[in-house]
Amino acid sequence: MKNLRRSERLLPPRRCSIAPMMNRTDRHFRYLMRLVTRRSWLYTEMVVAQALVHGDPARFLKHHPQEGPLALQLGGSDPATLATAARLAEAWGFDEVNLNAGCPSTRVKDGRMGAVLMNEPERVAECVTAMRAACALPVTVKTRIGVDQRDDFAFTCRFLEAVAEAGCRTVIVHARKAWLNGLSPRENRSVPLLDYDRVYALKAHFPKLEIILNGGVNDLETAETMLRRCDGVMFGRAAYARPLLFAQADRRFHGSRANAPALAEVLAAYLDYLAVEAVHGKIPHTATAHLSGLFSGLDGARVTRRRLGELAASRDLKTLGGILAPWMYERAA
Ligand SMILES: Cc1cc2nc3c(=O)[nH]c(=O)nc-3n(C[C@H](O)[C@H](O)[C@H](O)COP(=O)(O)O)c2cc1C
Repeated sequence: MKNLRRSERLLPPRRCSIAPMMNRTDRHFRYLMRLVTRRSWLYTEMVVAQALVHGDPARFLKHHPQEGPLALQLGGSDPATLATAARLAEAWGFDEVNLNAGCPSTRVKDGRMGAVLMNEPERVAECVTAMRAACALPVTVKTRIGVDQRDDFAFTCRFLEAVAEAGCRTVIVHARKAWLNGLSPRENRSVPLLDYDRVYALKAHFPKLEIILNGGVNDLETAETMLRRCDGVMFGRAAYARPLLFAQADRRFHGSRANAPALAEVLAAYLDYLAVEAVHGKIPHTATAHLSGLFSGLDGARVTRRRLGELAASRDLKTLGGILAPWMYERAA
């Protein structure tokens, strides 16, 4: 308890979290996930600190009060700008601010953000120091096990040591290195080999750091096994593809006794949410795409997905209600 920041004391531990994903984890998807799991941590898409500080904060930071525990992920490497962005995160009610030191995209790299920062541990430490000084939120870092040829254990340790000395006590480690030249971001999520042992070795080397393992975890059973050797597991693609996997997460990872939510309940609550979010009967752009994964593996999923795809143009709330009705009533009966 002593090492926790003031705002962190009432929040659940980060045993299970849903990864930041551009074009996926917008506020509508996060709300949907929150209907499935009350206690898993949710992360925003990466927000470029510079854009946030000089732009319209509402555009980047607006979220539903029920989304928490919720982290804002920032991209940047200028301590003063990141400090201002961290202050905004606190003012807007986020529970954590996370610095991206793991994204390999060329655009991100050219902006001196993401995985390329692993080559500059002192710079990242300065950023963490500035962000911590600017707000009372926990400041965390998401990174990889290495970049390009620099992927030995000592290299990763030096990076973690620097951020830990700056006061970061939670590091999310995507258990792959990143190739900054020659691989697309997508390839960088599958071509470099997963090395979970490296993450466990980091936990053993830094017992006081909260180490969250990320990368390639597709089910809760596997995560439960991993939790014997690290503090938390972060799920990315599996959460987007199959959100209902996480219906058991609160019971499994947080000792909750509440019943796991059923598909029908989730859909009904999401429709209620969209009714409030809709403008003149039109639902938000991404809202239908996010629903697709809920039907994964179920009979009739293909037809529903096709109809959701067709709805993307009109975005009509009533039509969406009609598409979802069979899942809410007939099947629940
Ligand atoms: C579509 C997509 C967008 C992503 N955007 C981000 C991002 O904004 N910030 C970030 O740190 N990682 C991002 N990632 C990486 C994920 O957070 C995660 O590290 C990666 O997908 C590995 O986890 P997984 O195997 O469970 O998917 C993204 C991944 C995907 C698939």
